[in-house]
Amino acid sequence: MSENGEDREAPGFGLYIHWPFCRAKCPYCDFNSHVRDAIEQRRWRTALLAELAHYAEETAGRRLTSIFFGGGTPSLMDPETVAALIEAANGHWAAAPDLEVTLEANPTSSEAEKFAAFAAAGVNRLSIGVQALDDTALAFLGRRHSAAEALAAVALARQAVARVSFDLIYARPDQDAAAWAAELDRALAEAPDHISLYQLTIEENTPFHAARRRGELRELPADAAATLFSETRQRLTDAGLAAYEVSNHARPGAACRHNLVYWRYLDYLGIGPGAHGRITAKGQKVATRQHRAPEAWLDLVERRGHGTRQAEPLDAAARLQEMVMMGLRLTAGIARTDIRRELGAEPEALLPATRLTALQDAGYLLVDEDGMRASEAGLLRLNALLSYLLA
Ligand SMILES: C[S@@+](CC[C@H](N)C(=O)[O-])C[C@H]1O[C@@H](n2cnc3c(N)ncnc32)[C@H](O)[C@@H]1O
Ligand code: SF4
Repeated sequence: MSENGEDREAPGFGLYIHWPFCRAKCPYCDFNSHVRDAIEQRRWRTALLAELAHYAEETAGRRLTSIFFGGGTPSLMDPETVAALIEAANGHWAAAPDLEVTLEANPTSSEAEKFAAFAAAGVNRLSIGVQALDDTALAFLGRRHSAAEALAAVALARQAVARVSFDLIYARPDQDAAAWAAELDRALAEAPDHISLYQLTIEENTPFHAARRRGELRELPADAAATLFSETRQRLTDAGLAAYEVSNHARPGAACRHNLVYWRYLDYLGIGPGAHGRITAKGQKVATRQHRAPEAWLDLVERRGHGTRQAEPLDAAARLQEMVMMGLRLTAGIARTDIRRELGAEPEALLPATRLTALQDAGYLLVDEDGMRASEAGLLRLNALLSYLLA
């Protein structure tokens, strides 16, 4: 085991289930999430179970290590639907004894009331979208809960399941280092063992994007955001929750095993509208993508049993690109054993020697007998590092 509970020997196999609905659309969010007046929960349950059964046939015999209900807002699902999917998954595959089952939840009181029912359904980890611990910031982010309500939801989550994480968004316009440090300290006072800290990104086709174009929203300058990033990492390390990925911090043993499956480029199934998957069968890794629009997906599943939009075999070059892009996000980087497993060669044989050397000389990349990883300075400019290395 590595210090974050990551077992390098056991190849994980994860299941992602996408719930594409939210009560309201937040102005910064470009996830595949939609607001609908009414949702036919039974119809959705039947369709998700059908798509699960379809893909289970292609992956029979695997050992399931994690399930992740993401969204959208999966805490709006009926607990019966969550229970039925977990039960079906346990029937399709042999589950690891420590199967991790995460559900993303919004911290409104009506959803928090359902946490115990989700736990009874088999959820053992809740990831809560707290987003900010400051009511003015929550209003700016278009959230429909106060900081107090969010913390009450975190407390209820703790009573319901053993593992609780929460998300905060920082590097908000005009946020200064002192205010963020105070907010982080409030978050750490909750004694979380996992916390995801995302820098605000202005995504295209969102109300925030339009507001920026109109000059009504000014992003934090890049150098100020970089300072916040470094200070955040230091503060969290001092508190015992070192970063194990660019935006994710955990106490030893508390890393999210499901997300590690993505970052380590292991196999996962993705079901539900817009979900992505990576499945290796007959020695070939295939990238799957489901239809994104909820109604189109539902219609397809009802007609033919699955809503697959694309299933594309990935050649070695594509797998190398994906593996490096995902793996260098991890503090531990990419293990040689993982590169060999996926691509049958050492990184030096796969990546351009001049670029590897240049990045190491600049202090952005470390390559040793264990594998390769980005340095602290490299993580600060990870996108540029990746573009250069994979050009
Ligand atoms: C699928 S969403 C969250 C689940 C849940 N619906 C919620 O909002 O609480 C996952 C996380 O991504 C983060 N996120 C979404 N859009 C973001 C953006 N534009 N910038 C930074 N973080 C973002 C938020 O912290 C959010 O909790
Ligand atoms: S942040 Fe969460 S609640 Fe808001 S629109 Fe995105 S998925 Fe929905």
